[in-house]
Amino acid sequence: MSRESCSIGLLGLGTVGTAFHELLGRRADEIEAICERRPRIDGVLRRSEGDFEEILARADIVVELIGGTEPAREYVLRALEAGKHVVSANKQLIAQHGDELFAAARAAGVQLRFEAAVAGVVPVIRVISESLAGTEMTRVFGIVNGTTNFILTEMANTGATYASALERAQELGYAEADPTDDITGADAAAKMAILARLAFHTPVNLADVTFEGIAEIQPDDIAYARDLGLSLKLLGVAERVGGGISVRVFPCFLYRGHPLAPVEGPFNAVMVEAPAITEITMSGPGAGGTETATAVLGDVVSILSGDAPVHEPRERLDVVRDISSAFYLHLEVADRHGVLAQIADVLGRNEVSVRSVVQRGLGNDARLVMVMHEGPESRFDAALEEIASLDFLRAAPRAIRVIEEEFV
Ligand SMILES: NC(=O)c1ccc[n+]([C@@H]2O[C@H](COP(=O)([O-])OP(=O)(O)OC[C@H]3O[C@@H](n4cnc5c(N)ncnc54)[C@H](OP(=O)(O)O)[C@@H]3O)[C@@H](O)[C@H]2O)c1
Repeated sequence: MSRESCSIGLLGLGTVGTAFHELLGRRADEIEAICERRPRIDGVLRRSEGDFEEILARADIVVELIGGTEPAREYVLRALEAGKHVVSANKQLIAQHGDELFAAARAAGVQLRFEAAVAGVVPVIRVISESLAGTEMTRVFGIVNGTTNFILTEMANTGATYASALERAQELGYAEADPTDDITGADAAAKMAILARLAFHTPVNLADVTFEGIAEIQPDDIAYARDLGLSLKLLGVAERVGGGISVRVFPCFLYRGHPLAPVEGPFNAVMVEAPAITEITMSGPGAGGTETATAVLGDVVSILSGDAPVHEPRERLDVVRDISSAFYLHLEVADRHGVLAQIADVLGRNEVSVRSVVQRGLGNDARLVMVMHEGPESRFDAALEEIASLDFLRAAPRAIRVIEEEFV
């Protein structure tokens, strides 16, 4: 790296790349004062402009803001192998090719930083892999997808259907024209794979993360939940379970006292738990050009300032699938004698215990909304399968997880 200046090769000049270009221009004096090196953009690559080989030859740091896995993977790998530091905002790249890229960075003695890949400008990567390196984390969880949080907030606050809340998110620029990755939970799954890897020092791939999305959520699930004091979020949860780990994304009800319950709109929030620190909650904007570019520039400053943590797995932890959860269960049934007793019998035989029940008449039918106490998901799934086959059921049962913990 030259003493006076640091040459940055910028790959991608879209929403984040353009914001990064502008921000760097505005902040170069301050960064030079802090780091005693002046970063300057020395080559831009986009589909219609620039030559990767020329940019690579000149760069001290390569900033990858293209997105997707190819050609981003090839460019990042080439840069690391050529001894260049790399900053990326690309969650799919890190979640799917982390092993290969971290190994290449280690072999070349260079840094690979990716703060913006999870929760935008909220500094969760730095906190987990640097600030909290001195403690054994037991759980990292939170709201890591702003699009779905906006949709769920809109449904809760206005009674909108899922489809019209999604349309509103697209109008406001919170959802892309093709929102599949967001609403299926795939985007959040990639982010949780990254957080789990860093928190537990074990290889975690996308295939290790089970995920569910929000497309099946109905406005009346949210309305009933409100009566029960619950609010709905799409949560990512990575935790130690026995001798292994579990990494999952699922829609989930939270009681009002939970720190994540008031996180609304496109905001993200991540909580970290460890015996020594109790818990830390970080929240803020999870996306946006300037916000994301701010995290990218923070990574550039970190590279100019010194060493990065090593993201090498220390052990291989098993992925545990049968987790303990509480559930909300929504049933539409014929309003006749003995229905509740039969449902209670199925739940009882499967050792699923009920915490609360709300029943409402619907003409000849009735709606039963129940919240269960926490228990193994396999037992609840078995009960649900039996309930789904009862002849008095008027529609398929709907089940959503509930986090029971209340915080003070
Ligand atoms: N947008 C956000 O709020 C946000 C938040 C967090 C993280 N991120 C991450 O930041 C990264 C960039 O996102 P973005 O929203 O800025 O994307 P974007 O607006 O779609 O911009 C992508 C840029 O990459 C260039 N590009 C695409 N394919 C290319 C190729 N094959 N070769 C060379 N250049 C190519 C495009 O070139 P052209 O200009 O020629 O089309 C464009 O300049 C992604 O990894 C994304 O996940 C974004």
